Amino acid sequence: MLKKLKELEDQSRQSIAGVNNLAELKEIKVKLLGKKGALTALLRSLGTVAPEERPGLGREANILREELERVIELKESSLRDLVKAGQWEQERIDVTLPGRPIDSGQKHPLTIIIEEIKEIFYGLGFQVAYGPDIESDYYNFEALNIPADHPARDMQDSFYLNPQLLLRTHTSPVQIRVMEKLAPNLPVRIIAPGKVYRRDDDATHSPMFHQVEGLVVDRDITFADLKGTLLLFAREMFGSDQKIRLRPSYFPFTEPSAEVDILCVMCGGKGCRVCSNTGWLEILGSGMVHPRVLEVSGYNPREVTGFAFGMGVERIAMLKYGVSDLRLFFSNDLRFLKQFG
Ligand code: DAH
Repeated sequence: MLKKLKELEDQSRQSIAGVNNLAELKEIKVKLLGKKGALTALLRSLGTVAPEERPGLGREANILREELERVIELKESSLRDLVKAGQWEQERIDVTLPGRPIDSGQKHPLTIIIEEIKEIFYGLGFQVAYGPDIESDYYNFEALNIPADHPARDMQDSFYLNPQLLLRTHTSPVQIRVMEKLAPNLPVRIIAPGKVYRRDDDATHSPMFHQVEGLVVDRDITFADLKGTLLLFAREMFGSDQKIRLRPSYFPFTEPSAEVDILCVMCGGKGCRVCSNTGWLEILGSGMVHPRVLEVSGYNPREVTGFAFGMGVERIAMLKYGVSDLRLFFSNDLRFLKQFG
């Protein structure tokens, strides 16, 4: 009997040592120590040995049971450690690997230009004003002294929603809205960036584009203020040695009016294809606010004067970045857009 116990111990230790997963270990535990297990069977057969040997053998068998339980428990915890180690291995992070790049967006070139324009005029004490894209005939034309037979009023040129409402064709109506609100307070010193709409579509015209309007109204504002302001703007925008040239022009809402040119950004004034050999490029329209425009907006033209200007944002962006087709700004081609970060 003692020999059998010894044999069972050796066998058990061997098979426990050889196990390499928790399920097998559980099976072995049942086979050894369970109700129908080998050790239990051996204990049951104690009845067949001499009565005086029974207590000693019983003690040995119980010691063996405790011993095997301990060995199984140890094996179990070492197997659990192995499983955990495997999980760790799977979750391991190699912090030396290069990261996966996140493709971050960036500002649209027109947004960049508008922000630059704002910064320049903030520096001169201007504030930013906005008006609606859907505008009434009154603000878009009438109050700006644009006569009824002016070609801009033609259905061919403007997007009308009904006979009184249209998509604004320029940012000039914001002049009227701002003055109506502020009058009779002085000074008025605003720029108004925004979208404008015209029935046009080619390499240099888009049905929607952007303008920045400017308006200054105060006592004793002169044409020299207009010129000085726009020269400073041109230098901030296109380089500190920029020059401007004012050409007489006509706009119904300014008198006198002038178109403003800068030295050609391509040839510096020598004359080239971009400036049609003139050496100059037009960048905006401007003038002294027409007395009638001041009057309808609540200012007395005998007491105050003002100047105004309007520039095309796409045109400035094209000149500054050397872009030859305006449609590129609206094509959402990332290869194009990524160049302006
Ligand atoms: N509104 C004009 C246009 O869209 C641009 C313009 C010219 C605005 C002269 C002005 C100005 O404020 O004084 O063509």
